[in-house]
Amino acid sequence: ANLPEFLAKLPKAELHVHIEGCLTPQLCHSIAVRNGLDATAFDPAEATRRRQCGSWLHGDYQPMLFCGPNEMAINAFLTEYTRCNAIMRTEQDFYELMLGYLERAAENGVVRAEIFFDPQMHCFEDSSGAGAAAAEAMGGPPRMPCGVGGPRMPYAAVIAGLWRGIEEGRARFGVDGALILSFLQDRSLEEAMAVLDEALKPGNVGKIVGVGMDNGTGPWGHGSTSRFKPAYEKAKAAGLMLSAHAGEEEGAACVEMCLDVLKCDRIDHGVRCLEDSIAAMRREDAAVVRKLKDRNTPCTVCPISNHRAQIVGRTSWCAVPRIFCGESPVRAMLEAGLHSDDPAYCAIGTVDERCYACEPQTYDGYVNSAYMRAARDSGTRVPDWLHRRRA
Ligand code: ADE
Ligand code: ZN
Repeated sequence: ANLPEFLAKLPKAELHVHIEGCLTPQLCHSIAVRNGLDATAFDPAEATRRRQCGSWLHGDYQPMLFCGPNEMAINAFLTEYTRCNAIMRTEQDFYELMLGYLERAAENGVVRAEIFFDPQMHCFEDSSGAGAAAAEAMGGPPRMPCGVGGPRMPYAAVIAGLWRGIEEGRARFGVDGALILSFLQDRSLEEAMAVLDEALKPGNVGKIVGVGMDNGTGPWGHGSTSRFKPAYEKAKAAGLMLSAHAGEEEGAACVEMCLDVLKCDRIDHGVRCLEDSIAAMRREDAAVVRKLKDRNTPCTVCPISNHRAQIVGRTSWCAVPRIFCGESPVRAMLEAGLHSDDPAYCAIGTVDERCYACEPQTYDGYVNSAYMRAARDSGTRVPDWLHRRRA
């Protein structure tokens, strides 16, 4: 049978998708116009081009062996991500974003979706200044500095819009959506506590199933996510599932810290835990991989996202060109759930991820070359070229 068609029909759970990463250039533009912002800064064609450089490094695709420092790869993407999300201002904006995602998820055969959202990105100014610069460029109102002067958008409006989208998406598309509140690793603990307190208020508490940890805008602070332990403890006490991005931009030690200090139930990405097992093959002690296994902790892996962020290529596990490895890390992590991370930025969807995971050699080369064409039909729709290629 045709692999993409088979996978598209299979009922799936999407466990790793960021609602902010579902903001397509078209929706971003229309919301910017509605909110009276400088829409030329969000011209859809220009925004699409920005998202399509072959890797998340600036410029064209770089072979795995020649990728630069981690920070560069993630930052080119996250800066644009933060810039685009600065247009979000109203409950309606979040409702439309959620409903659009759920419609595309249903087309991809998703029946359950656990969706990250980054309230700090919307409720507080970011400390990196990227959001402020974007707001200024748009002629928008100046935003409050990080954690000072109160929220720029009330948490209540963010959650209300997302929730309305989830309820309508369940009724119209049959997708069982759930929300995971993600903290931002480059912000203060106080800010994380502030959004968590909002989320735990009586009218809001039933609307999230867990907490997570996303990048924000700055580079991943080495070991610094352990400082969020009090927020994780509070979330645990409230009965929430605990997850965190780890083993993506940071290595195996970060995965271990999330298990030992934050006591995570789930690790998002986690692929760089394999670096530990390579080191371990020499030391005969695969500590982090064994910990994941012993605790039965799943990793939600995003192969195409990792490929674009050039995470996979830099793991020592795959430090030789992929053609010699012949495998994606998912082969080694197949028990993990697969998903799509930031579909509007990768021009992929959950079905694409599964195809890529099954046949990385087939999908590798053209996953890169097809971005330009694929992103034109935007978002997570399974692109035509995927079917043509496999036909
Ligand atoms: N937020 C959105 N996408 C992310 C990623 N790939 N890594 C960390 N944080 C993120
Ligand atoms: Zn992610």
